[in-house]
Amino acid sequence: MSGNESRAHGRVAGKKILITGAARGMGRSHAVRLAEEGADLILADVCESMPELEYPLATPEDLNETARLAEKHGARVVTNVVDVRDAAELAKAVNDGVAELGGLDAAVANAGVLTVGTWDKTTPEQWRTVVDVNLIGTWNTCSAALPHLVERGGSLVNISSAAGLKGTPLHLPYTASKHGVVGLSRALANELAAQNVRVNTVHPTGVETGMQPASLHGLLADQRPDLVPIFLNALPAVMAEPIDISNAVLFLVSDESRFVTGLELKVDAGVTIR
Ligand SMILES: NC(=O)c1ccc[n+]([C@@H]2O[C@H](COP(=O)([O-])OP(=O)(O)OC[C@H]3O[C@@H](n4cnc5c(N)ncnc54)[C@H](O)[C@@H]3O)[C@@H](O)[C@H]2O)c1
Repeated sequence: MSGNESRAHGRVAGKKILITGAARGMGRSHAVRLAEEGADLILADVCESMPELEYPLATPEDLNETARLAEKHGARVVTNVVDVRDAAELAKAVNDGVAELGGLDAAVANAGVLTVGTWDKTTPEQWRTVVDVNLIGTWNTCSAALPHLVERGGSLVNISSAAGLKGTPLHLPYTASKHGVVGLSRALANELAAQNVRVNTVHPTGVETGMQPASLHGLLADQRPDLVPIFLNALPAVMAEPIDISNAVLFLVSDESRFVTGLELKVDAGVTIR
């Protein structure tokens, strides 16, 4: 079967899906996996670094590359350089994308950031940035998508973390924000079930992406080796790969999961059972 023929029979054939944080890492992987299975895509990314973070964020070239990879599979793709913290700009980008593609079936709130530090070194700026992007940005994504989903049903997939279920230390704002994503998603799942909109969270263990704050390893090794076991997977793998998470996202977006809502889907190599 050619790429386009397999798209026609794909697991999300014909669906139109919004993905935030799509320029690289897991967001790019979700875009390519969903494109392979027949989706058309609205991709959003801030494409600019932030002073509160110790690692760089993606670039406009990264976002274009994601679009190119998805288009190779025959997907129609709309890209937007937009910050998920800006609710109005995000809603406008989504509305424009929906007008271009002719509808929306699902959104994957994937954009996220991570700061590192012990409790006494954590600053108000870190708290505000991380909660603003990871929690309020997830809400902004749901809120931008929902006007298009409530009429016909749909799927919201909010990317949390193993740190959304477990007291993962040395990044308090991140752990708090990812727990917040669970509360938001459970409550929304209740509010939206009557309209056939499903809301689920995904909880990855560590995945090798651009989200690499170099100070974490040093902090663990030099100051808090007692905390290392909290980060260890049960299964014999140090890290998962982006595709492992994308396959979970694919399931939650597809109709295969039509009676799945309010689920916390762990793709965590067992780190949360430890
Ligand atoms: N990498 C891991 O180990 C890991 C583990 C669990 C959960 N997660 C979560 O997975 C998601 C994807 O992370 P990743 O590992 O691919 O990291 P990444 O840094 O490689 O990718 C995140 C993307 O989000 C974009 N982004 C950041 N802030 C944004 C904003 N305000 N508006 C729009 N876009 C923004 C970045 O530019 C980047 O392209 C995040 O929510 C992250 O918290 C990551």
